[in-house]
Amino acid sequence: ESNGVALTPPMGWSSWSFIRKNPTESNIEAQALALKNSGLLAHGYQYVNIDDFWYLNPANSVDANGRWATDTSRFPDGMGAVGAYVHNLGEKFGMYLTPGIPVAAYNQNTPIAGTSWHARDIVSNTSSYETNYNYGSGSMYYIDYSKNPAAAQAYLNSWADQLASYGVDYLKIDGVGDWDVADIQHWSAALNQSGRPIHLELSNSLDPASAATWRQYANGWRIDGDVECYCGSGSYPLTSWNSVSSRFTDAPRWVPFGGPGGWNDLDSVEVGNGSNDGLTADERRTQLTLWAAEGAPLLLGTDLTNLDPADLALLTNDRVIAVDQAGVPAHPVDQVAQQQVWTAANSDGSHTVALFNLGSGTATVTAHFADLGFTGAADVQDLWAGTDLGSSTGSFSASLASHASMLLKVTPAAGAAFATLHYDLVNAGTG
Ligand code: GLA
Repeated sequence: ESNGVALTPPMGWSSWSFIRKNPTESNIEAQALALKNSGLLAHGYQYVNIDDFWYLNPANSVDANGRWATDTSRFPDGMGAVGAYVHNLGEKFGMYLTPGIPVAAYNQNTPIAGTSWHARDIVSNTSSYETNYNYGSGSMYYIDYSKNPAAAQAYLNSWADQLASYGVDYLKIDGVGDWDVADIQHWSAALNQSGRPIHLELSNSLDPASAATWRQYANGWRIDGDVECYCGSGSYPLTSWNSVSSRFTDAPRWVPFGGPGGWNDLDSVEVGNGSNDGLTADERRTQLTLWAAEGAPLLLGTDLTNLDPADLALLTNDRVIAVDQAGVPAHPVDQVAQQQVWTAANSDGSHTVALFNLGSGTATVTAHFADLGFTGAADVQDLWAGTDLGSSTGSFSASLASHASMLLKVTPAAGAAFATLHYDLVNAGTG
């Protein structure tokens, strides 16, 4: 969306993976403080996003204007206070909602702010419910945008204005599917009339067939289901290799749609708490390699108050961050083998190349320069290590342990010849 935000992929922290169903003023503010004190903020991680469960069940509790009501047992000073705390640290503030109108608002007699209409004037079907993952069916009605268009827009405007008054810089709308196109169009208009630049993120597992629509109205969209494994009894482990590796299958069809103003979101980055994250050291680095190669949002899902020093070093590698922030999604050369080469052409004539060994044993992964678009020699730099690996002719090979990866910058030597590539991005990964 051309609303002036998300010119580069957003970076920061999101509450869902680690905090899950218990965000509170104190645990969110503790993470915001750790984002700064760890040094992550100085490397570009700036958003502090509160995900689900900041509000009371919308089936039975709303504010005077029919919007979600903050759960003040967990946020005693209200959301404006959290927004101010985050901003005072030099960070940005994010919040979460799902589409529709609370069931409790339907029965309310207070009119929509600034109008003489009531919430029930924008609902025509009270027997089917919008998606709200955790309060479930029965908590939100669909908005009927044809019934009373001005009232529907006024309702969303009042909500957007309230979020803007909290200092919200980023809004995740979850439970979105193809059936919600009108919701997203009207939410986009509501946020834009608020006068505050607000990043609009859509979740989850959206349909690539509608990518052009999401790109028109939003600044990011989840391309896949949840990265969390939900396999732990408490907070850990946060994820598993299987849930990270599914992104290798799903990312290719989205490659053409990520760019300034709107990004392909691979979900939270589960790197930061060592083996507690549920990934080996190689798998944690591989997760960042893929996210960076895809120009994906880098929203950390881990506990920033308990950072593992080696993970912090991965997260603050400025060469890798620069690949992410360049925002040119890489595509796989092929996805037949478990040894994969993903590549993107940079505007300076170099190529970003990620080598992945998705197999279960050590294997050699080879990038053939013809697959990158040139023949002859090239200089190869290892971006994780920050070392120059020298000149290679025709191809570059590395032996990688199971689930390990490399991130390279490959610069064709003067005089390298350019080949013509025929790669079908939109149909990639469909078999
Ligand atoms: C969905 C989303 C997650 C998270 C939860 C919250 O599963 O995909 O990212 O927001 O809902 O309930």
